[in-house]
Amino acid sequence: MSSNLAAKLQIGTQEAHTNAEHTDFMRRFLKGAVDKNTFGKLLGNLYYIYNQLEAELRCYQNHPWISPIYFPKLNRTASLEQDLTFFYGENWRDKITPTAAAQAYISRIRELSAIEPVLLIAHAYTRYMGDLSGGQMLKTISESALGLENDRGVSFYEFKEIKDLSDFKAKYRAGLDSVEVDEDLADKIVEEANIAFNLNIQLLRELEKSLVAVVN
Ligand code: HEM
Repeated sequence: MSSNLAAKLQIGTQEAHTNAEHTDFMRRFLKGAVDKNTFGKLLGNLYYIYNQLEAELRCYQNHPWISPIYFPKLNRTASLEQDLTFFYGENWRDKITPTAAAQAYISRIRELSAIEPVLLIAHAYTRYMGDLSGGQMLKTISESALGLENDRGVSFYEFKEIKDLSDFKAKYRAGLDSVEVDEDLADKIVEEANIAFNLNIQLLRELEKSLVAVVN
């Protein structure tokens, strides 16, 4: 029986999605007002977040709640490492640290993994479905704004092992629907997805300062 989790998540995070799209950072980004320094900072934060999220999902990959949405081909950690090498050089690890908003995001993922791992579904959904959707627009914009070529610096947005993103998103939604959760748990997952959107909004707000300093 379907839990209808995909539709519940889509509807239940619509407002949060609009809020994310309307952040100053995203408005400016969509206009191409992004610089290498700020983009590098964004990728740096995302590296720490995905590294944590993917480690936790890996731990629970065989759990009946997580396995339907566990797709290693979505993993972004290695592609972020490539991009960070491109922007900061081989010793990129010495040059980046997670900001306060990234640390709060990572703490939330760690906490869930320890106390209620089923809610990691909400975090996987928020990031991966976003990367497969609006992320694809951001890829084109970053390439043109930053003068990048041949996917260098934007492999984060490239899903090389996925041929058709629309088909895959349908598969991901089917995976969400097949997670066997009751109404209460589905509601909790939607609530957690809203927390995930807010953590992303905080991350973007923090970066606005960096954009303001360079672009204005
Ligand atoms: C300017 C910024 C953004 C734009 C233009 C954008 C655009 C879009 C579009 C067009 C879709 C629908 C794709 C489809 O149904 O095939 C979508 C879906 C989605 N986006 Fe965004 N997005 C943005 C920011 C974000 C952010 C910051 C997040 C969270 C980190 C996010 C998470 C999602 C999710 C989870 C979905 C899937 C909704 C669903 O079908 O269940 N987006 N986005």
